[in-house]
Amino acid sequence: MTESDAAPKLDTSVPHSARVWNYWLGGKDNFPVDRAVGDDFANLYPDITVVARHSRAFLKRAVTFLVKDAGIRQFLDIGTGMPTAENTHQVAQAAAADTKIVYVDNDPLVLVHARALLTSTPEGRTDYVDANLHEPAKIIEAAGATLDLKQPVGLILMNILGHVPDIDQAISIVRELLAALPSGSYLLTADGTNVIDGPAFEEAIGVWNANAPLTYHLRRPDEIARYLDGLEVLEPGLVPCSKWRPAPDAAGEDLREVDEFGAVARKP
Ligand SMILES: C[S@@+](CC[C@H](N)C(=O)[O-])C[C@H]1O[C@@H](n2cnc3c(N)ncnc32)[C@H](O)[C@@H]1O
Repeated sequence: MTESDAAPKLDTSVPHSARVWNYWLGGKDNFPVDRAVGDDFANLYPDITVVARHSRAFLKRAVTFLVKDAGIRQFLDIGTGMPTAENTHQVAQAAAADTKIVYVDNDPLVLVHARALLTSTPEGRTDYVDANLHEPAKIIEAAGATLDLKQPVGLILMNILGHVPDIDQAISIVRELLAALPSGSYLLTADGTNVIDGPAFEEAIGVWNANAPLTYHLRRPDEIARYLDGLEVLEPGLVPCSKWRPAPDAAGEDLREVDEFGAVARKP
């Protein structure tokens, strides 16, 4: 772990992205301030919990695909969030025990809970880096202590790029991260969009942005598509994450199109 020895300060007076997301996912690692804003948000946009759950399910399917079918054995998961039942390393190592994962986040509460993410199989490895997405070079340098950056890496940017207000800045962060990874690496990404539930989702995001120190910005799918420029986008392309290769046994599930688009793409 980096910077982990200093006792982190928890601010329970303002809502945090990781904690509210955890609340919507049904987790317990959140505070009254997170639940209050989470409830205000959900009153305006009740489907946020459906979006959150589909988003995690997409992550699980995509990570499993990358390990089993694309042969990826190392992941860099930036914007980790709070530990849940099926974290990236558990999903990846269930498919191949020797997979290595580096988690990155800059929320002190995620850091406090990082121990739950450091439960690697003996064959693999997990590490946690306390770092800011806005400093890609530092992230890459720290990740290099655990990952072999000459071998393909699965770069995971799930529900974090929407926290970068300026789309061009978000694109340039993605470019810088990918530039440091070899050919055959993959980008796995998804973020909230504004094309299916438009006004209700936007209104709820307005509540979030009025209350939280870290704003979130819904994107149009054509904006998210710019993260994928120059990459080989895998079928079925950039789609509502509920529609990305739904599991064959998902017939009974609510597979409506959710307002979060995701994709998996390969660096040529
Ligand atoms: C909505 S949560 C998503 C968690 C997880 N990726 C998922 O999709 O389930 C966003 C996460 O990104 C983290 N985050 C936001 N901005 C960040 C930044 N500039 N640097 C590092 N982490 C950041 C937050 O602390 C939070 O844990």
